[in-house]
Amino acid sequence: MQTGRLTLQMITTQKLCCVFFSAMVVLNSSEIIREALVKKWSDFAGRPVSYAGDIVSGGGCSISLGDYDDVWRAHRRLVHSALQRCCQLSLHDVIERQALHLRKVEKPKGTHCTDKTAFYLNPIKAGIGLANHMLGYFQSGHKGIKDGLFTLQVLMDYQCSAVDLSEDFTVAASNVITTLALGNEYDKSSPELQQLHNCLNEIVALWGSAWISALDSFPLLRKFPNPVFSRLLKEVARRDEIIKQHLNNYKSQDNKHKVAITGFLLQGLDRHHNTESGVLLTDTHVHMATVDLLIGGTETAAAWLNWTVAFLLHRLEVQTRVYEELCTVLEGRYPKYSDRHRLPVLCSLINEVLRHRPVAPLAVPHRAIRDSSIAGYFIPKNTVIIPNIFGAHHDPAVWSDPYSFKPERFLEGGGGSTRALIPFGGGARLCLGDSVAKMELFLFTGYLLRDFQFILPESEPFLPDLRGIASVVLKVKSYTVIARPRPVTNV
Ligand code: HEM
Repeated sequence: MQTGRLTLQMITTQKLCCVFFSAMVVLNSSEIIREALVKKWSDFAGRPVSYAGDIVSGGGCSISLGDYDDVWRAHRRLVHSALQRCCQLSLHDVIERQALHLRKVEKPKGTHCTDKTAFYLNPIKAGIGLANHMLGYFQSGHKGIKDGLFTLQVLMDYQCSAVDLSEDFTVAASNVITTLALGNEYDKSSPELQQLHNCLNEIVALWGSAWISALDSFPLLRKFPNPVFSRLLKEVARRDEIIKQHLNNYKSQDNKHKVAITGFLLQGLDRHHNTESGVLLTDTHVHMATVDLLIGGTETAAAWLNWTVAFLLHRLEVQTRVYEELCTVLEGRYPKYSDRHRLPVLCSLINEVLRHRPVAPLAVPHRAIRDSSIAGYFIPKNTVIIPNIFGAHHDPAVWSDPYSFKPERFLEGGGGSTRALIPFGGGARLCLGDSVAKMELFLFTGYLLRDFQFILPESEPFLPDLRGIASVVLKVKSYTVIARPRPVTNV
């Protein structure tokens, strides 16, 4: 049934519909998504109960998959305030540092690297303050470190190589989160980082598999061997071992001067025990919050950066406009987040990529926790609600020419409205890391476009395929690019 832009899809399991029946509603417009998620947030803040979800979320103890109740609320409040405190103290510096590190992208494998270049490419060898502890970072003088990095000209060495930047983007996004969460950052080749990513990516991939969702639709299947489910169990056990080790390391070190979410969470846990009776948050909640931040914060931002460069290869003049804006407004210095209101062209690019390729296209399913209504339709308790962000961002009633990439729609007179953008969802389940993500997208893009022009390698006959690979996170197909350094600007 379709009415206006609300599509009601009663998803039944066909022949077995009398036994295994579940109702699902897909919301396809920003207005209707806002009505459900923001205006009626308390009706739709639940998550569907799921057999595999319970295992992946440590028995419902994660924020992203945990159902809405008093414990979940206390958990989200605790993590939100720890994240906010940490962001106020260090987010800008952490992202700036990763953005600077990123511009110094490593040479592709197989190319010769002189000792001098290797020295520049490896900031640890170069001794320019890549200490793991935030204390060391701040004590050594933030400006000094930046200045040291500014003088590096390693990309002169890199300019003619065609590379796939996706791994560098993943490492940069991941390091923002691991620094915030644990106070640690990793080198691209670090086995610890590789292990963590392989494991988390595998869980997300297995999680999207039909073999796993079938366990909820057909509970009888749980009694039969299921190799995909067995792999999921193995990866979850591996993940828990890695996170446990991180948390134990954190607890065993002297972290008095470290600015890390884990520290705030552990302190909060102590206070929590004393103040909020009736709700018990435990180490498992700290453990699962770390998983939430790592999973939520890595592939999303990395996928977004990959999309941005892919679109920019299609529209080189947009890069030029952003570069010119950066040069004119900032007179050669790197952007600060507080500059965003003075950089409308850069912001229009960010908004258009968020609109056209929302990296979480179907958000995370919600559940009606009581009988309610959406757009005048009765929605019974336990109905699963899917916010179709991709659909809302391509709604022809709101966006002119919605399937074209046009950052200029967000410039004055362009007709695009940021109010209709909902890439981070909304309401009680609004993306927990939206402020981290917004700053990351702004600084990473600003730094990269100030320093490089992205061009298609001559060896590539085609521009990147922009159709995307559908999964939990919407990713662009892999492509190679040349990052050509811009003329050196004063810093
Ligand atoms: C471009 C970047 C990002 C996008 C587009 C994005 C988008 C989303 C969306 C659509 C949701 C689901 C909201 C809902 O259920 O209605 C979500 C949830 C979530 N995100 Fe993000 N996200 C991004 C980056 C991040 C980052 C950097 C973090 C961590 C620092 C993060 C952590 C989370 C968590 C923990 C949840 C679950 C919230 C809950 O269930 O209460 N995300 N995100």
